[in-house]
Amino acid sequence: AWLPPEAFRALGSRRVLVHGDGMLVDTVLDEVARACARYGGRMWHSPSWDVDVDLVLALRGTDELPSATVQAARAAGEAALAQAGDNAVLGAEGFVLARAGDVTAVLADAPAGLLYGLFHLVRLGAAAFDTTRPAEQHRPALRRRMLNHWDNVAVHPVMGQVERGYAGGSIFWRNGRPRGDLARIREYARLLAACGINAISVNNVNVGRTEARLLTDRLGDVAEIADVLRPYGIRVHLSVTFAAPVVLGGLPNADPVDEAVRAWWAVTTRQVYERIPDFGGYVVKADSEGQPGPFTYGRDHADGANLLADALAPHGGVVHWRAFVYNHHQDWRDRSTDRARAAYDHFVPLDGRFRDNVVLQVKFGPVDFQVREPVSPVLAAMPATRLAVEVQVTQEYTGQQRHVCHLGPWWSEVLRFAPWGPGGRTVADVAAGEAGEGGGLVAVANVGDDLFWTGHPLAQANLYTVGRLAWDPQLDPRAVLDEWIALTFPQSAMADPELVGRTLHEIMDDSWRTYERYTAPLGVGFMVHPGDHYGPDVDGYEYTRWGTYHFADRDGVGVDRSRASGTGFAGQYPPYWAQVYESPERCPDELLLFFHHVPYGHVLHDGSTVIQHIYDTHFAGVEEVAVMRGRWRTLKGLIDPAVYERVEQRLDEQARSATEWRDQTNTYFFRKSGVPDAHGRRIY
Ligand code: GCU
Repeated sequence: AWLPPEAFRALGSRRVLVHGDGMLVDTVLDEVARACARYGGRMWHSPSWDVDVDLVLALRGTDELPSATVQAARAAGEAALAQAGDNAVLGAEGFVLARAGDVTAVLADAPAGLLYGLFHLVRLGAAAFDTTRPAEQHRPALRRRMLNHWDNVAVHPVMGQVERGYAGGSIFWRNGRPRGDLARIREYARLLAACGINAISVNNVNVGRTEARLLTDRLGDVAEIADVLRPYGIRVHLSVTFAAPVVLGGLPNADPVDEAVRAWWAVTTRQVYERIPDFGGYVVKADSEGQPGPFTYGRDHADGANLLADALAPHGGVVHWRAFVYNHHQDWRDRSTDRARAAYDHFVPLDGRFRDNVVLQVKFGPVDFQVREPVSPVLAAMPATRLAVEVQVTQEYTGQQRHVCHLGPWWSEVLRFAPWGPGGRTVADVAAGEAGEGGGLVAVANVGDDLFWTGHPLAQANLYTVGRLAWDPQLDPRAVLDEWIALTFPQSAMADPELVGRTLHEIMDDSWRTYERYTAPLGVGFMVHPGDHYGPDVDGYEYTRWGTYHFADRDGVGVDRSRASGTGFAGQYPPYWAQVYESPERCPDELLLFFHHVPYGHVLHDGSTVIQHIYDTHFAGVEEVAVMRGRWRTLKGLIDPAVYERVEQRLDEQARSATEWRDQTNTYFFRKSGVPDAHGRRIY
């Protein structure tokens, strides 16, 4: 992945001084020592004498200064901070990088900052030692940068070891037991720290019987993982079932106002902290898709979330309470219920009632991780609640790691979206919170026990990117992809690094839009095969209970979510977007069918009609995949043959699947509308 030994060459061939103490400083020492052993450099740890070095990594603390070298480095760092007019607080994870004469200095207030500084140096490579390099400061924009693993401990009869997992088995669990490959988990922790992730939940949000016990008699399994992740600054969280007091505690109910229930959570949580002192907290999917929740007892989600929050508060933990709540037993005949409305309708009335240590975790869009959706209106409607934004790195709806679909540009668009109107606060601002107290970014993980971690080797870039965007949502996704390419395919190990880098960009930069082109059009969503969600099935969900319909008939297609004539969902947005989305004329093309049911002849902003757009994009998408495949073939012999072959196989499948999407979608709409393709291309 993105930390091959080569990535440490620039650092490892230099003379490095590390100053400071603590578990994460030990991690830094270990990383530097290994790099130096490999590439001929040298390392000192807090020497009290002066040494000639190229690099200093030091904690800023007020302890006695050990050497003139460290003093000089510190002075440079402090000068850089002063020059930036900063208040000179780097915080728990920030760092400054400056030059002191011939020395590169990285300073941090806390050990985690030093670790992130180290990985920044790795990213920079030789450039970190440029004599003219200006000073830079880095602090994460979002405090919690989290992965949710949807890993089951016991193999689920339908979902398998990992729900929506496309990279083999779990790296944590196998057949009901811990997998026990702690070395692999350690490698994983390094990768995550290197892209900025600092929290992981280790089991599925759908909590089965075996998984429930991770909270009590199987807690040791979790503690073992926590021990491995801790040196990389990553805290462990656990998905718990709301019914735990019943299924684990033998109580007659799990009612949040019942004293015995409250006491059970308090005691159980205390025991968790006795075993895992830095435990992060709970993740809860309640009253959603069959999971138990407070509704059973006539209570609401604030009562439910606060119950767990109160148990966690004495220990500094948080509860991530998911807002993914909707009626999954809808009658398709019922046009008044709109799944898109559900999270807002359930949660917005509760704003202000959640404890401070509740984070409401909101899927970025109102439906379900589609390739295109508007941003969830919940994110603009709960000013008194800590909100986290949830995205899906595992590619459930974006090609399942068989298709190249680089999601960086999509997440970047979401994080930069301004829900109150252009120029206003962004989704990233909401996730950061006014005073840095926001809920952060949460991503459903895409890693498994696969040799390449993510099934599709290029899907690694999605994981890397989500961490980097959580650290800094302003980063240009192309620049992040550059980082990933440079680390993963190091220059010094490539025959033609320039060609490799350019080709990967050409294949990946626009691959999300390519995927969008050959799948469901204009924001309408779904049209996937029910159950496994792979491949096209235009009417697959049309007459089901899941609330995901497109309403195509002979005249038109799309969901009327306007206030004037539809479900009223458009009215859940602040005025600027409510007006834009309300109007079929003003609504952005890419979301037209999410908000409106329009005739096939409706003219888009680009002058095309809806039906012609469907044909054009589906033909174009398949052609783009063919081009991707051709480009990949130019890399044969230039990169690791195993990576080459895996990607080549996946591109073959992507080409097959994209063709199927094109032909089924085009044929479906041709048969519905009777409108021929203006260019006379083959439709079946
Ligand atoms: C999707 C997905 C489920 C998952 C759910 C969730 O609907 O298909 O497998 O459980 O999201 O986010 O909880």
